[in-house]
Amino acid sequence: MSERMMASEAGSYDEQFELSLRPQKLAQYIGQHKVKENLQIFIEAAKLRQESLDHVLLYGPPGLGKTTLAAVIANEMNVNVRMTSGPAIERPGDLAAILSSLEPGDVLFIDEIHRLPPRAIEEVLYPAMEDFCLDIVVGKGPEARSVRLDLPPFTLVGATTRAGALSAPLRDRFGVLLRLEYYDDQSLAEIVVRSAHLFEVQIEQVAAMEMARRSRGTPRIANRLLKRVRDYAQVLGDGMITEGLAQQALELLQVDPRGLDHIDHKLVTNMIERFRGGPVGLDTLAASIGEERVTIEDVYEPYLMQIGLIQRTPRGRVATHLAYEHFGYEYPPQQT
Ligand code: ADE
Repeated sequence: MSERMMASEAGSYDEQFELSLRPQKLAQYIGQHKVKENLQIFIEAAKLRQESLDHVLLYGPPGLGKTTLAAVIANEMNVNVRMTSGPAIERPGDLAAILSSLEPGDVLFIDEIHRLPPRAIEEVLYPAMEDFCLDIVVGKGPEARSVRLDLPPFTLVGATTRAGALSAPLRDRFGVLLRLEYYDDQSLAEIVVRSAHLFEVQIEQVAAMEMARRSRGTPRIANRLLKRVRDYAQVLGDGMITEGLAQQALELLQVDPRGLDHIDHKLVTNMIERFRGGPVGLDTLAASIGEERVTIEDVYEPYLMQIGLIQRTPRGRVATHLAYEHFGYEYPPQQT
């Protein structure tokens, strides 16, 4: 397959680094067993029928491999992948231009699909997804008329961190809905070992496990930690990532044993110290730590909820007993 994505589209050095670690085939993709099992069958069936794969919606927290899976799907189907994102499409015409350049069977990946402008969705995406066609308006005023252009069959792979932010009519137009889950430590350790191997860096299994435990269930974080720990190994050691060296590096990097960083710390300790553990509204909390509401909602909160440090209640967010314990506060909070 020629992955039709130029280096310039791939973005920053970090993104390109990540791309080099990405698996190409489903068999190389670690974890997400249910998602893989399902995809394998749908891909096989589409290939047997010599049809394009039905449109796929991938949803779940950031960094879990949605972009990677889109490329893997294209690779397994032996087609090209075109990559774009909701915020990159400003006008309906931007989307129409991309769609009209697709070849039969191609995968169009739209990251952050919940951020597509509503007009692009209604005027362009719906007819394209449903009937593989574009309705183009030519001419102006009384002369204006609509011309229907046929598109080749294609597969839209949409990705979003928030399936709830998609309108029901858009969600309903995807034939396959797959939710990506946080990875368990074993799968993350396997990813770290695989990436280390691609970097030609030796790593002890226990060191990989230590890094896995501190990666918040997220391969993107695991690979980022690996990159930094590799630096320490080269400068402070002999290049080999041993358990001791990994621990030393992770301490210097200030990643705590559960992988929480200083923003997680600030978020939870603020809830405890300034709001007596909550309930506190999301906007108030966001303002108190100087972060965007959506960053907390999409990036920080899901993992903190997953490991049981905070809970969402109708009256706001609450720090749990476990959160008090983890950050060394007395529970229940002292009445003042
Ligand atoms: N690199 C990043 N995510 C991965 C995954 N799920 N499997 C293998 N390598 C990866």
